[in-house]
Amino acid sequence: MTTAGSAGAGGNRESARGAAAGRVRRRRRAAAGVAGALLALAGAGAVPGPVWAADSAPQGPPKVIVGGSPADTETHPWIVALSSRKTYGSARSGQFCAGTLIAPDKVLTAAHCMFDENGRPAKRSDLKVVQGRTDLRTSAGREVAVASSYTNPTFDLAEVSRDWAVLTLAEPLSTGVLPMVGAGEDVYAEDTPATVLGWGDTTGRGDYSSVLRQVDVPITSDATCRTAYPGGAMGSYDQASMVCAGLRQGGKDACSADSGGPLLIDGRLAGIVSWGDGCALPRKPGVYTRVSAFAADIRKAAGM
Ligand code: ARG
Repeated sequence: MTTAGSAGAGGNRESARGAAAGRVRRRRRAAAGVAGALLALAGAGAVPGPVWAADSAPQGPPKVIVGGSPADTETHPWIVALSSRKTYGSARSGQFCAGTLIAPDKVLTAAHCMFDENGRPAKRSDLKVVQGRTDLRTSAGREVAVASSYTNPTFDLAEVSRDWAVLTLAEPLSTGVLPMVGAGEDVYAEDTPATVLGWGDTTGRGDYSSVLRQVDVPITSDATCRTAYPGGAMGSYDQASMVCAGLRQGGKDACSADSGGPLLIDGRLAGIVSWGDGCALPRKPGVYTRVSAFAADIRKAAGM
């Protein structure tokens, strides 16, 4: 399903695989989140050398998020990178997921970002959030330790459903928060313009961006998303807890390491980057956590 492994060449190969194998792979990827897929990819020899170092090599102008354009943390001060240098190396400030400040000391992210490549809750003693760092190769902005995390207890790792977690920071950040859509609010009509931001893969081949990027993707109907993800090896769309966005022809999407980051509708936090089959493939929209479905639970978890 998601991630670098299924993107690029893998994305197309995926459909040719047997259902059982696909299901296992999908589960593994789901369990793995970003990290596992990257490690798996590196292990398979698809990407030479350390995956996270790929972006630090000179490769011309930076690209980010598939089909998008550069963005900056001055305009979007509430987006943060989740970082663990011990796990992911320091080239890109240890970035592996993203998150959004919903209160000065609370970050909303994806639950799957809290799991390791073996599908176990990750123990990252150096987990931090990085705020105000458009370019992860610099030391701009601030790094704040994560004091504790709350993973939605109904998160389903195998299905990657109800995918949200709240991090509590060791110190508050006074840089501004992003308002969430209201509980039960229906902001997800088909073709509603939405924007996703992140430092993730720009091609689906492990080209992680150093610079924050954004891309506009229209919300897709539940019917379209159900057709794309009918269940089994292809992943299963659950309209109660998920929402999809993307172009029918593909070309614009979030991708690996964008996970946990925000999908904005009308300047509010309406989705969390969660999963997808490959990245930016035709008729395979990105799948996001439906924030309105969990807004009340999220507020409660964040003490708001
Ligand atoms: N699961 C991926 C991550 O861990 C995000 C995938 C989003 N994929 C997509 N095609 N929209 O970073």
